[in-house]
Formats: sequence, C-alpha cells, structure tokens
Amino acid sequence: MHPSRRDNGSAGEPRPAPEGPPALSVDNLRAYYLMHYFGVEREVRAVDDISLVVRRNEIYGLAGESSCGKTTFLKTIAAAVRPPLTVVAGSVRYGFLDRDIYALSPAELSAIRWKHLSYITQGSMNVLNPVRRVRQSFIDFAYRHMRLHRRAFFAAVEQHLRRLHLAANVLDAYPHELSGGMKQRVTIALATICRPEFIIADEPTTALDVVVQKDVLAMIREAQQQIGSSMLFVTHDMTVHANIADRLGIMYAGRLVEEAPTAEIFTKPMHPYTAHLVASLPRIGEQSRKKSLSGAPPNLAAPPSGCRFHPRCPLTMDVCREASPALTTLAPGHRVACYAASPLVKPSATAERAAVPTPRAEPVGLVQ
Ligand SMILES: Nc1ncnc2c1ncn2[C@@H]1O[C@H](COP(=O)(O)OP(=O)(O)OP(=O)(O)O)[C@@H](O)[C@H]1O
Ligand code: SF4
Ligand SMILES: [Mg+2]
Repeated sequence: MHPSRRDNGSAGEPRPAPEGPPALSVDNLRAYYLMHYFGVEREVRAVDDISLVVRRNEIYGLAGESSCGKTTFLKTIAAAVRPPLTVVAGSVRYGFLDRDIYALSPAELSAIRWKHLSYITQGSMNVLNPVRRVRQSFIDFAYRHMRLHRRAFFAAVEQHLRRLHLAANVLDAYPHELSGGMKQRVTIALATICRPEFIIADEPTTALDVVVQKDVLAMIREAQQQIGSSMLFVTHDMTVHANIADRLGIMYAGRLVEEAPTAEIFTKPMHPYTAHLVASLPRIGEQSRKKSLSGAPPNLAAPPSGCRFHPRCPLTMDVCREASPALTTLAPGHRVACYAASPLVKPSATAERAAVPTPRAEPVGLVQ
C-alpha cells in the first residue's frame, strides 16, 4: 500500500499527487448518442468537451450523480463505443500507445485489451460466463496475452489469485457458486492478471454490502499498487472516493466541473455542486437528514444554457444563464468551472463566497 494512502475511508491529510508523464491524456472529448426517431434527430450530449490527464501510478476518481455521463466517458476512453454513441470530437491518448486510441484497427484494439488496458464495466460481475467454470474465463481473457504454456499459465494465475488473497479453488467454481463480493474479486483478478498499464473501473463496488465493499476496495488498491498501473475509477459514492482516489474529477451534466487532489475536494470544494456532494455525506452521530439538491438533473438532449448547473445553483448570477464557465486553474492542481469560485475566498466559508457575486438565494446544503 502507498505509505501516504489513507485506509480509514476519511478525507484526512493531503497526499502528494503523483507526478510524471501522463498515463492518459483526454483532450476536448465529445461523445454524443445520436438518434433518429421518425425523421427527428435527437442528440444526447453525454460527454461534452472533457479534458483531463491521469498520471502514472495514479488513481483518478470520477464522481457525479446518476446520468451525468460517467459510464459514457469511460466507454469512450476505452474505445468501447457502439451506435448510437458516437465520438464527435477530441482525442484519447495513452502513455503505452504512440497514437490516439481511435487510430487503432480492431485487431490492434483487441491486442491491447486486458494486456495494456483493462475495463471493468458497470455490472461487470456478469463478465463471467455463467455456464463455464472461472478457469475458462481466465483462459478466454488472458491466455493469448501471457504467452505461457498452459501449466505455467495456471501457475501464474494461481500466484496472482494468492497475492490478491483468493484461493486457487475459485478456478473450479461456476459463477453462481460464488457470492457477489467473490465474483467481483475474481473480476478484478481477471482485469489485473496481465498487469495492464491502465485500468478503467466503473462502479466496481456498488452492488456490494459495506463490509464486502471495503474488502474489494482494499483489493483494487493492492492490485493497482502491485502492478504499478494507473486507474480511472468511477463511483457516485463519495466515501468510496475518499478511500481510494488520489485525485477527483466531479462531473455534472456531461462536463467536468471541478478537479483537485482528493483531500482538497473534501476540505476546500470550490464548485457549488461539489460542495453539495461533500455536504450531503452522512457524518457520524448526525441525526438530521441533509438537504437534497433542489430541481432535477438536466436533460442532456436539451441541456440548460450557460452553466448547466444554473437552474439548481444557489449562487446563480445573470452571466451563469448566458455563458458557460471554462474549467480554470484557480489553485495549484485545482480546476473549477464556476463564475463564483475564487481562490481569494476561503472556499469552506460559504457565506463569504456567496458575497462575491450577487447570489440569487441563500446557499443551501453547502459545506459550512
Ligand atoms: N444507449 C443509450 N442511448 C441513448 N442515451 C443513452 C444511452 N446510454 C446512456 N444514455 C444517456 O446518456 C446519459 C449519460 O448516461 P451514463 O450511463 O453515461 O450516466 P452515468 O453517469 O454513468 O449514470 P449512472 O450513475 O446511473 O451509471 C444519460 O442521459 C443516459 O440516459
Ligand atoms: S455560480 Fe454560476 S457558474 Fe457557478 S455553479 Fe452556480 S450557476 Fe454555475
Ligand atoms: Mg454509469
């Protein structure tokens, strides 16, 4: 485990951000669902101009409410795009590739999957073939990549399972014989067996109870540290991010609205939506229910003008309805897309921040 990594699920002291060349660079990525209904075109702008970098050996967490585009973003960077999803613009470059991933042929893409780039999809426990033993899934996913004779291959698989605290006899089980937590652990073992440089994981702990979740998180962290890979990890659960991510990106309505080292997101959120996410976390001993965010998530086929958060934002100004704020670096390593955010104002002091612009209403649900 990284010496500075927290293991108690709390947003404690800041960890140094991993430095070095990018493991992944995404530039101005736009991916839309393009649909035609009886001659009428409909465009769901699920990923709308996202740029970010993930460093080597870093776990980058991506958070945001349901339907904000997290899975679509992951599908797009994994080049797992099927109609109606279409990449409209932008580039996706990995450190292990000399070209944009979209410049690869289908055969080249297939050669890098699992070996260099693993994608643990949402609901990925179902990746295991229900009518075949787990052993067969390892053969299907990893045998051709590892270039070992069968006996050496299974010795390597068993060693990998042991390192991840899994008994070798899971190989002989059928998926239905394993619990949800065990299936997810096997999926993570599958995704890491070839020691890929980059792992993409979509909600890998969501269907699990809290105790198993903790166990699976520890395993993901351990696997990532053992193989020294980089990871882009999606969950809407901020407590999971607090436990695992080095840096966090916050998505709202298809866009990245804030990005910072994890501890800073929890202690000094600058975007009102992030502040709401942090403020809504339950705190030990607290009885009262947190105020939920007013209004509904926007329809990505017809997103609001200007800042997409403006219909729900307690700090909305006129400019917010008219123009979209750019994601701007306001403190070292801290990018925010909000006209009201300011590095000159103490971000935790909501009342002070609200006094910078002319707020429309009293801020609700922000960090005090
Ligand atoms: N196959 C599809 N066709 C059309 N629209 C889609 C399709 N899949 C997703 N969408 C839309 O794209 C938007 C983003 O969906 P996405 O699944 O990426 O969100 P998400 O943030 O991963 O949500 P969740 O937290 O619920 O998994 C949503 O508005 C969704 O309705
Ligand atoms: S203050 Fe304006 S720009 Fe900032 S989040 Fe609210 S609506 Fe968006
Ligand atoms: Mg999703």
